[in-house]
Amino acid sequence: MMFPSHLAGTLIPAMAFLSCLRPESWEPCMEVVPNITYQCMDLNLYKIPDNLPSSTKNLDLSFNHLRHLGSHSFSNFPELQVLDLSRCEIQVIEDDAYQSLNHLSTLILTGNPIQSLALGAFSGLPSLQKLVAVETNLISLENFPIGHLKSLKELNVAHNFIHSFKLPGYFSNLPKLEHLDLSKNNIQNIYHKDLHILHQNSSLNLSVDLSMNPIVFIQPGSFKGIRLHELTLRSSFDSMNIMKTCIQGLAGLEVHRLVLGEFRNERNMNDFDKSALEGLCNLVIEEFSLANLEESLKDAELFHCLTNVSAISLVSLGLYHLKGFHNKYGWRSLELVNCEFEQFPTLELFSLERFILTENKDGLTFAEVTLPSLEYLDLSKNGLSFKGCCSYDDFSTNRLTHLDLSFNGVIIMSSNFLGLEGLQHLDFRHSNLKQASDFSVFLSLKNLRYLDISYTHTRVVFHGIFAGLVSLEILKMAGNSFQDNVLPDVFKEMNNLTFLDLSACQLEQVTQEVFNSLSSLRLLNMSHNNLLTLDILPYKSLQSLHVLDCSFNRIVASKNQELQYFPSSLTFLNLTQNDFACVCEHQSFLQWVKDQRQLLVEAEQMLCASPLDMRGIPVLSFRNATCQMSKTIIGVSVVTLLVVSVVLVLVYKFYFHLMLLAGCKKHSRGESTYDAFVIYSSQDEDWVRNELVKNLEEGVPPFRLCLHYRDFIPGVAIASNIIQEGFHKSRKVIVVVSNHFLQSRWCIFEYEIAQTWQFLSSRAGIIFIVLQKVEKSLLRQQVELYCLLKRNTYLEWEDSVLGRHIFWRRLRKALLDGKPWSPEGTEGAE
Ligand SMILES: *[C@@H]1O[C@H](CO)[C@@H](O)[C@H](O)[C@H]1NC(C)=O
Ligand SMILES: *[C@@H]1O[C@H](CO)[C@@H](O)[C@H](O)[C@H]1NC(C)=O
Ligand SMILES: *[C@@H]1O[C@H](CO)[C@@H](O)[C@H](O)[C@H]1NC(C)=O
Ligand SMILES: *[C@@H]1O[C@H](CO)[C@@H](O)[C@H](O)[C@H]1NC(C)=O
Ligand SMILES: *[C@@H]1O[C@H](CO)[C@@H](O)[C@H](O)[C@H]1NC(C)=O
Ligand SMILES: *[C@@H]1O[C@H](CO)[C@@H](O)[C@H](O)[C@H]1NC(C)=O
Ligand SMILES: *[C@@H]1O[C@H](CO)[C@@H](O)[C@H](O)[C@H]1NC(C)=O
Ligand SMILES: *[C@@H]1O[C@H](CO)[C@@H](O)[C@H](O)[C@H]1NC(C)=O
Repeated sequence: MMFPSHLAGTLIPAMAFLSCLRPESWEPCMEVVPNITYQCMDLNLYKIPDNLPSSTKNLDLSFNHLRHLGSHSFSNFPELQVLDLSRCEIQVIEDDAYQSLNHLSTLILTGNPIQSLALGAFSGLPSLQKLVAVETNLISLENFPIGHLKSLKELNVAHNFIHSFKLPGYFSNLPKLEHLDLSKNNIQNIYHKDLHILHQNSSLNLSVDLSMNPIVFIQPGSFKGIRLHELTLRSSFDSMNIMKTCIQGLAGLEVHRLVLGEFRNERNMNDFDKSALEGLCNLVIEEFSLANLEESLKDAELFHCLTNVSAISLVSLGLYHLKGFHNKYGWRSLELVNCEFEQFPTLELFSLERFILTENKDGLTFAEVTLPSLEYLDLSKNGLSFKGCCSYDDFSTNRLTHLDLSFNGVIIMSSNFLGLEGLQHLDFRHSNLKQASDFSVFLSLKNLRYLDISYTHTRVVFHGIFAGLVSLEILKMAGNSFQDNVLPDVFKEMNNLTFLDLSACQLEQVTQEVFNSLSSLRLLNMSHNNLLTLDILPYKSLQSLHVLDCSFNRIVASKNQELQYFPSSLTFLNLTQNDFACVCEHQSFLQWVKDQRQLLVEAEQMLCASPLDMRGIPVLSFRNATCQMSKTIIGVSVVTLLVVSVVLVLVYKFYFHLMLLAGCKKHSRGESTYDAFVIYSSQDEDWVRNELVKNLEEGVPPFRLCLHYRDFIPGVAIASNIIQEGFHKSRKVIVVVSNHFLQSRWCIFEYEIAQTWQFLSSRAGIIFIVLQKVEKSLLRQQVELYCLLKRNTYLEWEDSVLGRHIFWRRLRKALLDGKPWSPEGTEGAE
């Protein structure tokens, strides 16, 4: 048997040795879609991996070191459709390298320094539609062996060293070819004969990109009679003059779309004047695009050869001095992007259907335009201010269906779209809307489907703000606010609404009926508000609700009894990022969360916010058992507390009785110091001093009395004195009953202790002396004493000679009872 350490000791060097043998990475290709898509980018591969399934359709081998592609290199992958071999250092591609790839539609060879390309390199490949051979050291199309690729639609040979625009004869075998990208090559001159193949066969529908070639000459008439779908010539001419003559050389071309200009404003073409585009009068163009010229273009006359163009797009041009366009132009679409207009262009274009003016300089002020055919208007991202939006008068059109005024400045609403009833799409987001909540702004828009007023500083006060929007399907109003932060009933009549975004609206509450008419609503976004509870009743009527987003609120829990009212159509409920209270009080809500795990988005991400010891813990890990347990704990502690307090009360109440009990044990056998302890009211002290003390202590035999004014030890609590000195050290207790005695709570207390004492010491030790006729009513209050006096004999003080004599005789007799024998005592015994 081998020990693990020995095993490791032999295995590790072995593995190191193996990895030296095969320098390729051990990392496997990434499986993007099992059996279909594999991504082996940058894995240090020196050969094509053989451990991938033969069903692979998409294979990315870019950034490896394949270097040499032999024949049938990919025979393991007969199903391949997309093969990316970008930057694989491939220098040699042999005959039949891609043979058997009958389904391959895209082959990317970008960035390979190909030195040897066999004539049969691309043989096979009957389905290839797109071939990208950018940066592959290609010097000519003539020798490029692709003439048999009948399915080819797109050929990209940009960034090579091709110096001739001669389209080879085999192009007539490529009936489907549509895109030819020759940008960034070395083409200088274009001659009539180069386009022979296009002259010969006009059925090709080709888009050609010749950007970034140093073109200096185009032979006039070489394009005559040719039809191209698109011709792009950006950054192709070194100077204005060359451009002018070359454009003249294009005479006779029929092109669907012509693209001129530069890339970014990196070169300054001087003298770009109205003659620059003169040559375009000899072309038939449908769409024209011009981009990135530094030059300030002052004069709309520049475009005089483009009056019959249907669409014109001007991007990043210096049009700051241009005043506008007048009806001479028959354009149907005009796009002006980032053109630095200093003031809103005057537009009077009767055929214009689509107008886009975006990303202009900030600070434009909208001016009325006359565009009676306009259907689509995009004025976004201009920092535009607009006083008095919007009605027919602003655009002189009643055909408008799309209006985008987003990302602008202050837009003052003063009209409710009168004459623009056809609007279907309206976007104001991130503009500063004024007066939008003062009246029913959208009243005329009965055809509007899409409305975006997100982040428009709108504070909804007027409840009729959305009146009239009966067809609305999408309403986005995130980032606004409502009066008192309560969502009022503003969505009446919107029976077709499917999407409602109310996120980030500072909402704290939602009124009950607010969603009652929204029976088609599928998505409701309430996230990023300040809702405190998950109030479900308002959502009850949303029979089609699919997604409800209540994330990023301050929801603590929901009202438990309502949970059953959730619309049954709901499939996503997002409650993440709230302030859930994981306490037993919300036990049934927390249980509901567990039960609805399927419905809740990222249920495991729902975290407790309180109590403190549960903060950050997933709601799902709340145990309802702890509630059960804590109930028991609470129950037990309540009982314990009760018992303890009862005991404490009892101890407090009978503290002295207990002290008595403790003392009794100690003193039961000891000698008594006193014959009697006298309990009396201080009001009767005179009698005690003058009669009782005199007669008993100075008589024969003398008795020792315990009197608190005399015998109590100073500095000790009276109560302890009573017990320690009084009861414990006395044989008997004399109770001097009088009206004062009965009225004094202290005396009664002493008397009660005396009773306990008598009970504990189990001897008849209490002698009652009734000093005067006591009031019956007072006596009755002391029930026990009353009964006792009734049942037992007591001594009654009578202030007469005979009465006194009998009194003292009886008292002495009672005191003598149980007195131990002593010499003193015999003397006076009667
Ligand atoms: C991938 O192919 C293998 C073999 O053909 C097969 O067993 C497996 O089920 C496939 N996996 C998937 C996810 O289709
Ligand atoms: C023109 O191209 C079509 C389709 O590619 C082809 O059928 C036809 O023979 C070609 N005509 C000439 C004159 O080459
Ligand atoms: C020509 O090709 C473009 C795509 O490049 C396509 O949109 C257009 O419909 C085609 N035109 C014809 C007539 O086939
Ligand atoms: C525009 O078309 C009209 C008639 O269709 C024609 O007379 C005019 O010359 C054309 N303009 C240009 C610049 O091609
Ligand atoms: C609401 O949508 C339905 C079906 O899409 C449509 O038939 C109906 O006309 C629409 N209602 C309104 C007021 O637009
Ligand atoms: C709700 O709006 C927030 C931002 O306001 C966004 O992040 C979230 O994706 C939206 N929710 C849904 C379901 O679209
Ligand atoms: C809530 O979940 C939904 C559905 O997964 C998601 O679209 C939405 O973006 C989430 N909300 C936020 C604010 O992330
Ligand atoms: C505790 O959870 C269980 C299921 O996990 C449930 O059956 C039981 O009713 C819950 N108890 C209370 C008191 O909610």
